[in-house]
Amino acid sequence: MLEIKGLTKRFGGLFAVNNLNQFVEEKEFLGIIGPNGAGKTTLLNLITGYLTPTEGTISFRGREINGTPPYRMCRMGIGRTFQVVRPFAEMTVLDNVATGALFARPERHSVAEGRRLAQRPLELTGLWELRDLPASALTIGNKKKLELARALATGPQLLLLDEVMAGLTRGEIDELIVVLRHIHADGVTICMIEHLVHVIMQLSQRVMVLNFGEKIVDGSPQEVISNPLVIESYLGKEIEEGSDAA
Ligand SMILES: Nc1ncnc2c1ncn2[C@@H]1O[C@H](COP(=O)(O)OP(=O)(O)OP(=O)(O)O)[C@@H](O)[C@H]1O
Ligand SMILES: [Mg+2]
Repeated sequence: MLEIKGLTKRFGGLFAVNNLNQFVEEKEFLGIIGPNGAGKTTLLNLITGYLTPTEGTISFRGREINGTPPYRMCRMGIGRTFQVVRPFAEMTVLDNVATGALFARPERHSVAEGRRLAQRPLELTGLWELRDLPASALTIGNKKKLELARALATGPQLLLLDEVMAGLTRGEIDELIVVLRHIHADGVTICMIEHLVHVIMQLSQRVMVLNFGEKIVDGSPQEVISNPLVIESYLGKEIEEGSDAA
């Protein structure tokens, strides 16, 4: 579904992503981990067109998408969430999600239609009851869910998640794991950046580890957490199931 070849992003003298080769299969759930500053968010920004690669190519379903602006990426079926949540603070929860639905559809639609399309994502993320509140009134946990609901409303086939679990309580994390399983079971391909290693291990079919912009390992969750390079660069010590890195 997604194929990345020789992808490099340089900021001055810094190689934030360095000669990365990676593929993502249709319907796969790929986890992406790595230390702070490893280039994870930069990679997502490159895939979604927020940044232009210094070198390399990105193809989505066989078509090169380098340099495609974010709104077109969105309409092609690539959805994302942001590490730092960006709700429209004054708008209601419902209208935030309706905006996502309308943004993704090039044909003209009414606001009422956008609101109708927002219902399922809001129910799925557990925000339906809170739909009439302004987004600014939500807890950080619910703002993260809103971010996810808005991305879902764009109807993505490939969903890229940047630390959606950060700042959530344990209970909220468990709820969101169930939500993500539903989304994946619905046929959405997911790439998830996350520092909570136990969450990545529970959800991912395959895990890629980045360090200093380079891929150091790519394999099954079990292979990855027992890999000496991963333990040295990221996990710090052999982790026990249920513990978190960083
Ligand atoms: N717009 C930018 N201009 C200059 N340097 C940048 C820019 N964006 C990112 N960087 C640098 O690129 C490197 C990779 O950053 P990135 O945000 O991709 O890391 P990350 O893996 O997402 O880290 P974290 O886990 O902390 O979110 C870092 O050294 C960062 O300071
Ligand atoms: Mg990041």
